[in-house]
Amino acid sequence: MRFPSDFLTLSKYQTWRDAKLAAVPERVGDLVVEIKDPEHPSPAERQALLERLGKTNMAVFAAPPASCSKETMRRFCASFGLARLDANQLADDDGISPLAVAPEGTRTRYIPYTDRPIAWHTDGYYNDMAHQVRGLVLWCQSPAQEGGANALLDHELAFIALCDRDPGLAQALMRHDAFAIPANEDAEMNSRDMHTGPVFSVFQDGHLHMRYTARTRSIEWNEACEVQEAKAALEEILAHPPFGLFEHRLEAGQGLLSNNVLHTRQAFKDDPKAPRLLWRARFYDRISES
Ligand SMILES: [Fe+2]
Repeated sequence: MRFPSDFLTLSKYQTWRDAKLAAVPERVGDLVVEIKDPEHPSPAERQALLERLGKTNMAVFAAPPASCSKETMRRFCASFGLARLDANQLADDDGISPLAVAPEGTRTRYIPYTDRPIAWHTDGYYNDMAHQVRGLVLWCQSPAQEGGANALLDHELAFIALCDRDPGLAQALMRHDAFAIPANEDAEMNSRDMHTGPVFSVFQDGHLHMRYTARTRSIEWNEACEVQEAKAALEEILAHPPFGLFEHRLEAGQGLLSNNVLHTRQAFKDDPKAPRLLWRARFYDRISES
């Protein structure tokens, strides 16, 4: 469902909004699709995933745990048009990151590689606007002994919740100077310049994109009243989303296929003999709709 870029044209926005809300699945189980062979998803499996993505920008695939490998993940992603990987310095050389508790080394300083909780965010919010992460895929090889679930919220539904309060709030977060990430302060050790940008933006293909983190360190929000008010409203919405909130713990073989929706991660506890391991791939591409 394409976002109506002239969203302030009330009737068009209203139609889009109503269709989005009518399509929100009732249970997280409605997002799950079994995939027999992730190297070659069948047309019916692909269709089932795309149908869910069309509604909430995300789907959960459930593949045989033994099929989990980086090579298979790369091919599975490619079959959905996800090709241009956003590599960071902590990813392995091929750009797919193993998310696990790092016992030692540089990764220990970065929250994704700990067992601590992670607040609401979209991935790559610290990238410049030319390198925004539009596709995010996680694949669980081994879940934690306890915890580690993700809360998930379609960013388009967060936008709708804001507009329902006041379209001016959404507009304030579309300002090109809504927030900045200071130089050299991203969550994964990349050295960068300062990047200023909007929270919500509409890409050339007409899709709504969100760049967000709830973290309070290493971020500079615009001090303008309208932005501060909108930021506070968004925080309230994320604390109690009025619709579309899902929580799911990825089990072995399960993965999230998404257009970089809002997500959190719960704290978790590992079994030292079988620690949690999730593979993560971030793409500059959005999932292809056909
Ligand atoms: Fe993330």
